[in-house]
Amino acid sequence: MEYDRRQVLTGLGAAALASAAGGSRLLARTAAPDLPPRPPSGAGRVHEWIFAAAERPTRLLGPDGPVSTVWSYSDDLLPIKRVRVGDTIRARLENRLGEHTALHWHGVRVPNAMDGVPYLTQPPVNKGESFLYEVSPPDPGTFFIHPHCNESGQTGRGLSAVLIVEGDERRRPDADLVMAYKDWRLAEDGRWLPFETPEGASRAGTYGTVRAVNGVAPATHPVPAHGDVRLRVLNLDATRVIEVGVEGAEAAVIAIDGNAVSPFPLDTWRMGPAMRIDLLVRAPAAGRSFRLIDYFSAEPWTLATCEARPGKAAPKRPFDPAILYAPALPRADIGKAERLSYTFSAASGSVAEAAASLAPDDPLAGILLDGLCVRDNAFWAINKAGWASDRSRRLPPPLGLLKAGRSYVFELTNATPHHHPIHLHGHTFEVLGASRLKRPRHFADTVLLQPKERIEIAFVAAEGNWMFHCHVLEHMEYGMMGYLRIA
Ligand code: C2O
Ligand code: CU
Repeated sequence: MEYDRRQVLTGLGAAALASAAGGSRLLARTAAPDLPPRPPSGAGRVHEWIFAAAERPTRLLGPDGPVSTVWSYSDDLLPIKRVRVGDTIRARLENRLGEHTALHWHGVRVPNAMDGVPYLTQPPVNKGESFLYEVSPPDPGTFFIHPHCNESGQTGRGLSAVLIVEGDERRRPDADLVMAYKDWRLAEDGRWLPFETPEGASRAGTYGTVRAVNGVAPATHPVPAHGDVRLRVLNLDATRVIEVGVEGAEAAVIAIDGNAVSPFPLDTWRMGPAMRIDLLVRAPAAGRSFRLIDYFSAEPWTLATCEARPGKAAPKRPFDPAILYAPALPRADIGKAERLSYTFSAASGSVAEAAASLAPDDPLAGILLDGLCVRDNAFWAINKAGWASDRSRRLPPPLGLLKAGRSYVFELTNATPHHHPIHLHGHTFEVLGASRLKRPRHFADTVLLQPKERIEIAFVAAEGNWMFHCHVLEHMEYGMMGYLRIA
């Protein structure tokens, strides 16, 4: 195998190896990867889509189970949309729900006006209204679409779609499967349990009760024997961190948040909400199977079983994943970049702060939260400022005034004992280094800040008002959310 061994991710073990550079200003950085060639652009098709956000009663617990009031964009529980680099999407959002909504194209470098953030980039799309999004995804990869208001309630009831932008493959895989992980928060009678709780919102988030992949219970998928299977793994959960690995086959990481990397063997990869990873897996002989597993849970949990079926797949050959075409991203000039620091912490001066600073299993939190009226409180803050969702009509001042076209290095510091997947809209940043979890240097739109971790990212600023927030939905809704003004 032509792997670059220096880029191997060491997974769980590495988390324990706190970097010696922990106290210094600059984090130890891994070498900059060489970018593989860019994708040829396609024929430029135009896709006309309708996203009709509506309630569609669905039996989520199986054909004999109770009916739940699912909200979705179409009759498909989780639409999986495919386009090619160079295509144009005209997507009309029709709002048939009882509350306002919008469409956010997570990870796609869209013009600011198409970013789908009510009040910041567009007026909310009210009940009975519609809004036309026109998007020409500039980069290939695995993305997703979700509302950007009442996130835990709207995505909790189902509103999400997967967006695949094709055109990065130099060698076609023998199969291409989407594994979108997201729990449901359901009672046994099919009714929704509260999507937000003080215990969850102030700590690691409120967990679902039914674990699901692509909206349903984990399934067995047929794959061609000895074939190369591209697995697009998305963590679309509101809350849960997963750590994926493959058992029973050789697997390599080929893209992170849709961005090509030099393929490296998958040990495990830790993913917070909104993070994606593309794997290439070599299917075993007919009759045998491999499994995609989450090792972060107390008990390893199988997301998918892939069973090899005889077919006319390629004959047995060495596993040698080809590097994908990389997106044509602007590359930050790190030497000349302006440095800015952002600290993610509990909101200050309240019972909420005390609760939020407790470890996930500390029994004291229950006592502190008893009687706390949550909606009056922002639990979380970025650089001491909290922007909680219920106040989103009034825009707070931006978290930074940046210059379009300039290079920036952000130092992200997690001052809490919880995980925070940090997402910047409209940009693909380079993850330069981290103080705890070792990762190969790579491009991403969301990066997982481990408890007490420090991470450096770099990017070239693009014009617009861009959200910058934690993607644990209750964390963002309770204050760990802001935006950058770039002009
Ligand atoms: Cu998935 Cu503000 O984003
Ligand atoms: Cu968070």
